[in-house]
Amino acid sequence: MREKTSIAVLPGDGIGPEVMKEAVLLLQDIEKYDKTVSFEMNEFSWNSEYYLEHGRMMPEDGLEKLRSFDAILFGAMGDARVPDEVTVWEFIMPIRKQFNQYINFRPVKKLSGIHSPLTDSEDVDFVIIRENAEGEYSNSGGRLYDHTSEAMVVQNTIMTEKGIRRAADFAFHYAKDNGESVTSATKSNAVIHSMKFWDEVVEKAADEFPEVEFEKVYVDALAAYFVQRPHTFRVVLASNLFGDILSDLGSALVGGLGISPSGNLNPSGDYPSMFEPVHGSAPDIAGKGMANPIAQIWSTALMLDHLGRKDLHNIIVEAIEKTLAEGYRTKDLGGEHTTGEMGEAIRSNVRKQLEEVKV
Ligand code: NAI
Ligand code: MG
Repeated sequence: MREKTSIAVLPGDGIGPEVMKEAVLLLQDIEKYDKTVSFEMNEFSWNSEYYLEHGRMMPEDGLEKLRSFDAILFGAMGDARVPDEVTVWEFIMPIRKQFNQYINFRPVKKLSGIHSPLTDSEDVDFVIIRENAEGEYSNSGGRLYDHTSEAMVVQNTIMTEKGIRRAADFAFHYAKDNGESVTSATKSNAVIHSMKFWDEVVEKAADEFPEVEFEKVYVDALAAYFVQRPHTFRVVLASNLFGDILSDLGSALVGGLGISPSGNLNPSGDYPSMFEPVHGSAPDIAGKGMANPIAQIWSTALMLDHLGRKDLHNIIVEAIEKTLAEGYRTKDLGGEHTTGEMGEAIRSNVRKQLEEVKV
């Protein structure tokens, strides 16, 4: 990690700012206790409020501004006064696409002390590696003869050999480094053009990693296996749409949206990567101090890992587990602790570990 790491902080809407506050306090604590790191955090107030005022989600040079940062820490975006496709297509998607964040990285790990509503298995610990730049989310298509009885729509899936291959290579490298297997989600029995092509390209990558165990599984069956035998998965590789759906299932498997983190990665490092909780702005609980900050804090840990500090990542994840073991629970986990109490308890455990490291 560089001497001074620059982080663009985008809290967003709803509970975004509430959970982001806990993450920023954590980073400030870390730099206080660990003299080898220093963060320069710049907060941007681009959100739905900004849109209502300016008619756009970010300034014209917004992406240019973000480009120079080492990483982006994002909360969540979404507000009933702004159509969701505006927040998605004018904010989240431009960042993911312009910054070539072609991998969406989502750990599905059951933390000790969390009850899963779907499985008794204690060993749920895998990652979903989702193609994040093309596929079903290519924004290609259109409507004809709208509002007539002849109305028709075309929505194109665009998959390129390059796009599939780089996602597959990332998954196989990750599996190889961690001694794990790869499961590719497919549907080539029914979606016979794009998904067959997906299979072919993924299999080419698999051939180059003979030491990594590989299987392809139809995505519908895979959804059932996630529930029936989640312990059998280590690295799940999926297209944009399949990965999106599977990761919400994965999230439910390990205790819900309040916990699940994600990273939108540009593995080459040419552009900043962006780290965000899987959850949205949760307007139903916004402003009540009820949101679980774990997903945001864990996303911050993924960011530090990406920036070369796996040690700090591990300290944070351990601190989250320790805090849960101590009985801290926000409402989504069946408890009464506030966002601030949970955040402070995690930070306290991080501080304790950093003190130990120092000794
Ligand atoms: P959501 O994830 O915001 O909320 C779904 C449910 O989970 C709600 O009951 C909420 O209270 C709960 N929840 C979510 N995060 C939580 C947390 N940290 N702690 C405790 N409970 C939590 O999804 P929803 O309701 O479908 O969408 C709300 C808005 O968020 C929409 O405008 C949507 O477009 C946007 N959204 C934005 C995303 C992003 O910024 N990447 C991702 C998903 C949705
Ligand atoms: Mg989603």
